[in-house]
Order: sequence, then C-alpha cells, then structure tokens
Amino acid sequence: MTTKPKPETGLHKGLTSYGDTAFSLFLRKAFIKAAGYSDDALSRPIVGITNTHSDYNPCHGNVPDLIDSVKRGVLLAGALPMVFPTISIAESFAHPTSMFLRNLMAMDTEEMIRSQPMDSVVVIGGCDKTLPAQLMAIASVDLPAIVLPTGPMLVGNYKGEVLGACTDCRRFWAQHRAGTIDVAETELISGRLCPSVGTCSVMGTASTMACIVEALGLALPLSAAAPAVHADRRRIAEATGKRAAEIAISATPTPCALITAASIRNASIILQAIGGSTNALIHLIAIANRAGVPFDLKAFDQLSREVPVLLNLKPSGAHYMEHFHHAGGLPALLRELAPLLDTTAPTIAGQTIAEIIADAEYVSNQDVIRTLASPLKQEGAMAILHGNLAPDSAVIKHSAASPHLLQHTGRAVVFDGIEDMAARIDSPDLDVNPDDVLVLRNAGPKGAPGMPEAGYLPIPLKLARQGVKDMVRISDARMSGTAFGTIVLHIAPEAAIGGPLAIVRTGDNIALDVEARGIDLLIEPSELARRLAAWQASPPHREIPTRGYARLFEDHVLQADQGCDFDFLLRDGRVKPDPSTASD
Ligand code: FES
Repeated sequence: MTTKPKPETGLHKGLTSYGDTAFSLFLRKAFIKAAGYSDDALSRPIVGITNTHSDYNPCHGNVPDLIDSVKRGVLLAGALPMVFPTISIAESFAHPTSMFLRNLMAMDTEEMIRSQPMDSVVVIGGCDKTLPAQLMAIASVDLPAIVLPTGPMLVGNYKGEVLGACTDCRRFWAQHRAGTIDVAETELISGRLCPSVGTCSVMGTASTMACIVEALGLALPLSAAAPAVHADRRRIAEATGKRAAEIAISATPTPCALITAASIRNASIILQAIGGSTNALIHLIAIANRAGVPFDLKAFDQLSREVPVLLNLKPSGAHYMEHFHHAGGLPALLRELAPLLDTTAPTIAGQTIAEIIADAEYVSNQDVIRTLASPLKQEGAMAILHGNLAPDSAVIKHSAASPHLLQHTGRAVVFDGIEDMAARIDSPDLDVNPDDVLVLRNAGPKGAPGMPEAGYLPIPLKLARQGVKDMVRISDARMSGTAFGTIVLHIAPEAAIGGPLAIVRTGDNIALDVEARGIDLLIEPSELARRLAAWQASPPHREIPTRGYARLFEDHVLQADQGCDFDFLLRDGRVKPDPSTASD
C-alpha cells in the first residue's frame, strides 16, 4: 500500500482560508504537532471517526471501546485515525423529543465531516436518531464512509423471564397502570430491563436502523446484531477501521454509490421482513432523499403484501437481538430473503449481497430467523394507508396490531394535543368505550414540535382496569418501534398545518380498513370541506417559535411522508431517475 498522500488528500484537504495555502498547511502542521504527531503519521491518509459518547447516552456507552478497536484497524492498515466529537442524542434524555434534534445532528455531522481533513469517515451511532442522522450526513457529503452501529444491549431477567427494553418496559407499565404491579416493583424492574450498555434489545427503531444500514451495504456483515458488549462487536469495529483505511486510499465507494434504488428496495424488504419500526420509514425516506433516490410509498406498501415477516423478534415475535446474532444475524436473514432481493447490490465490504449470503452462517434448530415457507406473519410489518383523514398517507404496523381490530369502525374520542390527552385520558369522567377510536392531534412534525412518540396512546385507565389491552388509536405522531397495538401513525398532512385530522370531532365515526389500506372520517364531503374552511379561517392555532433552532425547524421541516428532513437539505437537482421510466 502506498502511504504517500496525493495533494488534496490527508492533511492537505480543506485547508483553512488564510489567503496563503502553503502557510495554511504549515500552521495546521504546527498545531497538530502539539499533540505529538510525527511527520510520518501526518503523511498518511486520514480516517475520521465520530465520537458520540455522552454520559447522557448509555446506548452509546461502549463507544470509547469501539473507537479503540476502530483505531487499531485503521493503524493496522497504515492510515491515521482522527477522532472528532459530534452531537449525541439519547431517546429518553432528549427534550422535547429526539426527532426534533435529528436534523440538527445530521447538519452537525455533515459539516464536521466537510470542514475537517479526512479521506474517509467511520460514523459510530446506535440510539434511534443517531444512525439516521449520520446516514443523512454521509449521503450529503458523499465522502467514502462506513457505519458502525453500537450494537444491542444484552437481555435482562426477572422472575425467571427473559426480558428487554423496551417492549417489556411498556408491558410492565401497562400492568402498573392496570394496578397489578405497585411502584416498588416498578423500581425493581427498572433495574432489570437494561442490563448492559447498548441499544434496545428488541426490534425497535435502533435495531431496525442497524439492520437497514447493513442491508443498504453501508456497514460490514453482522454489524447490526452483534451485542454491544460482545467480543464480536469489537472485532467488527477493528475490521471497520481496516476497511475505512482501504476506502480512504481508494477514494471509493462513496455512500451515494451504495444508496441506490436497488439498495433502498432491499432495505425496504428488510424493514418489512424484520417487523421493523415505523420510525425507520421516515428515516429511510430522508436518507433516500439525501442520496437523490426517489422513494415510492406505493411500492413500499406493495412490498408489505409480498414480503412476509421472517424475524421472530419482539414486538412482533418472541426473541431479542442477541438471539438474532446467534442465529446468524442479518446475513442469514438475507439468505432467506434472497429470492426477493437484488443480490447484485454492492456493499462497503467490497462484496455483493450474494457474496455476503454465500458466507452466512447456517444455524440449525433455531426459531429466530424463519424461512419464506414458514414465516412468522404472511404479510410484512407495515402498511401505508390513505383516505380522507390522511390524503398524503399514514402508516400502521399491522404485524404488531390486534387482528380483530384491523377492520374496525368506531366513535372518535378526540384529544387536542399531548397535554390534553395527559390531562383527560385517565379521568373517570372520560366518555370512552373499548370500541371507540382514540384520536390524538397536534403531535406531528410542527405541532408538538418534533413529532413525539406519543402515538402509543395509553388505554384509558378505567378500560385498562377492565382488562382492555388494545384499541384503535390514530394520530399525526410517531410511536416507538418497541410498542405494539392497532395504532395508525404519521397522518399527513398533520393537524397543526390544517390536515383533516384537525377537524375531527368527538362522536364522529372513523373507519380503519387495513386490507383496503383505508383510514376515513365518515362524514359527507361537503361537511368535511365546510369544517376545513372554518379551521383555516380561525388562526392562530398555536404558538409559533420566534428564534433559534426551533424557528428553523418550524420554517423548514417537511411532513412525515417526505422524511421530516429540512427542505433546504434535500439533494436538489440530483434526483436519480426512476429506472422504470428512464430512457436510454
Ligand atoms: Fe437508545 Fe432504545 S433508548 S436505543
């Protein structure tokens, strides 16, 4: 391998502007030598490594270990590792919600990669919004890049039962609300749900995004599921560092060479087959947009009819991420889905998907990765709905819904926002029945703001105590990927900008028909139009932020069906043509 940098590589890249490039390089070297670097080290290709470690983010608690391993790999391959900090976002510590901050992290990561000299970059992330932000960033910069997920946490145990965050968090909390678990027991359980650092151990958003990263070909094989504290995770990190050095030298492939119509379709198939998080759909749209690849919601919905759920993980199934790793991880799942995938798609490993499948481990006597002949569910994880309530779309994760509610008409019980819901949902005076449809509005991208994971409306206390476990719930909010229930999400356009959800009244009837992909308010079109006109005539509907990031978010965030990115961050003018319509 040659280690002599060409001009415009390594330390020569992106010189600070002083009006004298030779002086800029001289000054840069003088300052970096303060850290003890030799001329030999400074002549190497540079691999940037993001540091998203934060005391607020236990999902990234292993990042220092992973950085050590990545650096070892980079050095073994003869390049120079340079670690730099970016924003870190932890789900349960982000106010008002992590989604509000995702685009900020994407901008921060993008600009830090652009502004510092590096020939390739390793982005290390894990908690829900971090991998999406990093993927959006690397697609925009389009510098050779490789992704390293932090990996899932280990499973916990309680009273002889295997459990994990956060599907079981919700199950136990529902039992607490129903009065079968007291406060003291919830304290005990909170010490058992997360027994190690790493990301949630079920198929929540973090695990879903890690699988999508691997399916897109942006991470090495087995990167998605190896537990955060497993030695395999560190070996993958070392191999990631070595590969990052190789792509730094070869200057290829770039992320946009890998994020193509074929790999987005492969990732969509994986999203359906793993029973993935609905949040991941928003992120995948945003990532595709950043790479200039059209994302077709209709085609995505069609996949939901063609791709069965094969992965038997909570919340759709029974097992946890570490079991997925022991069953062969994503390469073994890719093998089962091979007839549906474009296996010619290249990956950052230098192999095609077909070559990765050929190397996949075969684990007999396991029930985690099902076959096409024996799926967990015949249809994919999530369906795209349309109707007069969701003209631009809504989504339902029907793999985690109650089958008897998938076709349901009920009376609307409307909450005007999250505060209204919190104030009234448990009131003994709330007029609500098990067959009603709970409606939450003003919880979308602009409404809340940041589209919080409030779509998992709790079952009203008086019904929970009667043993009601599920009801149809609809909103313009998101839902944690770890949650379950018959829940319609991401209604677009959102109520806060005058989507039809804004004019639903308690007592109206709402029809959900997942088979027909419909979500409708059962009122006359003329009445719908009259109510919408009246809504538009009565602003202000909410307080508009006046300054700072909140104002930027308000002015530029797109709706859920467009990925909730900022309009000015899309890859304008670089949309790749739809292959089915492109001419020679
Ligand atoms: Fe970080 Fe679940 S809270 S991955």
